[in-house]
Amino acid sequence: MEERINRVIGVLNYKGGTAKTTTVVNLAAGLAMRGARVLCVDLDPQGSLASHLGVQYNDSLTDLLLGDAEPSACIYNARENIDVLPSDRSMLKAEKELWNMEDMRVARRVLSDKLRVADDVYSFVIVDFPPSVTLISQNGLMYIRELVIPMIMSHLSVMGTRQVLGTLKAIGRIPDHQVRLLFVLPTLYVGRLRKDREILEQMQRMFGDKLAEPIRNNVKLAEAPAHQQTIFEYDPRSNGADDYIKFVRQVIRADSFFSNQIEGVIGRPD
Ligand SMILES: Nc1ncnc2c1ncn2[C@@H]1O[C@H](COP(=O)(O)OP(=O)(O)OP(=O)(O)O)[C@@H](O)[C@H]1O
Ligand SMILES: [Mg+2]
Repeated sequence: MEERINRVIGVLNYKGGTAKTTTVVNLAAGLAMRGARVLCVDLDPQGSLASHLGVQYNDSLTDLLLGDAEPSACIYNARENIDVLPSDRSMLKAEKELWNMEDMRVARRVLSDKLRVADDVYSFVIVDFPPSVTLISQNGLMYIRELVIPMIMSHLSVMGTRQVLGTLKAIGRIPDHQVRLLFVLPTLYVGRLRKDREILEQMQRMFGDKLAEPIRNNVKLAEAPAHQQTIFEYDPRSNGADDYIKFVRQVIRADSFFSNQIEGVIGRPD
């Protein structure tokens, strides 16, 4: 039987519009192109993930969290090697139900419990977070094991990251659950702007080798969602495709402990 190396990676920033969903879609697509089986989980009631990939669905994360559907009924195949667990506005109902649970420790672990089955199927689970703190996003934090923080090039954005890092610290105090910072990912980077170069340097000082190579501002990345395509489908020759391929390599390489096994499963990064 093929060995599954299960990495559960959350893409989170409490600030809106930092390219979280773009990163989830194209990280998943890049990993899938290398033969990894990937599940994308949307925790955002805006539901952008399914629409970005053009996935039609009936049951969603709401039905899973409410116990109205099995995981297999809410997970849809989007592309070869990419499955999606979609969300939409109905999730507010699930959020309310979770708040009604007696034991908040149990309420925070519903998603992890329900998605345990995914461990046997996927090499990577990539979780798209909403730009807000909800009980469902807290469920996400209890589920993921690694964190990517996409950050746009503004001073406010750098401050928003401190908030995420504070959250990471707080999770560190929860017994039996470790989340490690995988990468801070600069996005919408415009190298000819002095401001962007300065902020990048500031990020380098703050995060050292946790800072990934920036994703440049690229109109093709902005256009791809309207065509319901990943960047590799929409324009594989674009800067956006180049940058996300580099990021995929960095993610694969980042786990030195697992890297040999991961290369075995999904091919050596070149
Ligand atoms: N590198 C890029 N260059 C140009 N446009 C980009 C880039 N990355 C993302 N975008 C565009 O920026 C906008 C915000 O991106 P995205 O939806 O991925 O952010 P988000 O963090 O998921 O937002 P939200 O907080 O609302 O969920 C989108 O219109 C997207 O197409
Ligand atoms: Mg989003």
